[in-house]
Amino acid sequence: MSSLLIRNATQIVSPRPGVLRGPGLNDLSIRNDLSILIRDGHIETIGPDQELAATHKGAELDAAGKAVIPGLVDAHTHLLFGGNRADEFALRTAGASYEEIAAQGGGIARTVAATRKSTKSELVRQGVERLDRAMAHGITTLEAKTGYGLNVESEMTMLDAMTELDKVHAVDVVPTFLGAHGVPKDMETDAYLNLVRSMIPEAAKHARFCDIFCEQGYFTPEQSVSLLELACDHGMLPRLHADQFNEIGCLEAAIELGAVSVDHLEATSERGAKLIGQSDTAAVMLPGVSLFLDISFAPARSLIDNNCIPVIATDFNPGSNMCLNLPLMLSLACMKMRMSVGEALCSATQNAAHALRLDKVGCIEPGWQADLLVLDTEDYRDMFYFYGENHVHTVIKRGVAHARH
Ligand code: NIG
Ligand code: FE
Repeated sequence: MSSLLIRNATQIVSPRPGVLRGPGLNDLSIRNDLSILIRDGHIETIGPDQELAATHKGAELDAAGKAVIPGLVDAHTHLLFGGNRADEFALRTAGASYEEIAAQGGGIARTVAATRKSTKSELVRQGVERLDRAMAHGITTLEAKTGYGLNVESEMTMLDAMTELDKVHAVDVVPTFLGAHGVPKDMETDAYLNLVRSMIPEAAKHARFCDIFCEQGYFTPEQSVSLLELACDHGMLPRLHADQFNEIGCLEAAIELGAVSVDHLEATSERGAKLIGQSDTAAVMLPGVSLFLDISFAPARSLIDNNCIPVIATDFNPGSNMCLNLPLMLSLACMKMRMSVGEALCSATQNAAHALRLDKVGCIEPGWQADLLVLDTEDYRDMFYFYGENHVHTVIKRGVAHARH
């Protein structure tokens, strides 16, 4: 039996257990000067140091002067892709828009060409490097999407690479099948959608979720419903890239499907926010995309005030947010989306774990998975306030300590 005692944490800060909406997002549990006993990957007890240290014999970590928060859950990434689009970034700085670059053969199509050339072992090697970076920023669980293969062979290679990454890396990787991320250059939409449909039975063996890019010029709400219904028949759970640039009815489609989440929402109206707030579909917001593409931020205030389940994620990808720094996204949520520190913390821990349908992840309570961050500061709010810095001192993943330095 392996154990770890985190001793004398100045602050232990956690969301309360449960799916959090409205005022619940600000009702954090804040405990001072206590220790946490971890056994076999789970939190066993939280209590005074004398009581826990008296009988404990295993490894120890001194957390005096430090705050402890749950490990971060990044519920939306495109972790795996080949190639590099730094040149497109440069074009955008010279005035071209994301949509213009895509229309000229850049964008997703470009990354698809590079990803198709990548072998599984190349994807895994890059994936390990990126997961190391993610973990250094406090991410202990990460969702990863396919969608840069857009053919049977390459989409399945991406899924295989994710399954392997989950085995070889400490960070848990949760795969999503996003075969419908775009239409390959040489195919018509309907023919490609039929191909994606044919991939679903195999994809469902690896992926918990099925996603689609529901957007003008990509896939319609009707096409989304039809594909995601088939995915549901094969046991995957539906989610959608929705309202990124245009509000075209994706939220109605998501409600009809009972989707686990709608992701992006930069173009969501007050009416859309109300609709999501009345459902159990989580609202995954991606402030890094708004910063990176210089588009509007998702209306977090309106979504939260309308009772939605907020989640903040990176959307790490080569075209619309080349960044794995989830704490920076949380600072942006506070500074640009008027979210409170409590709302931001809950949105990247327990609510994010809920959106990925993970059990007992995202809270610091006995019986919960011991995914924790020991910060280099005694006040957890420094992570949001003293921004652009890395405040992660030690990452605890399933009870195992990984020092950052
Ligand atoms: O989530 N919106 C669609 N897909 C990605 C961007 C993909 C890319 O540009 O490579 C996103 O923003
Ligand atoms: Fe995305």
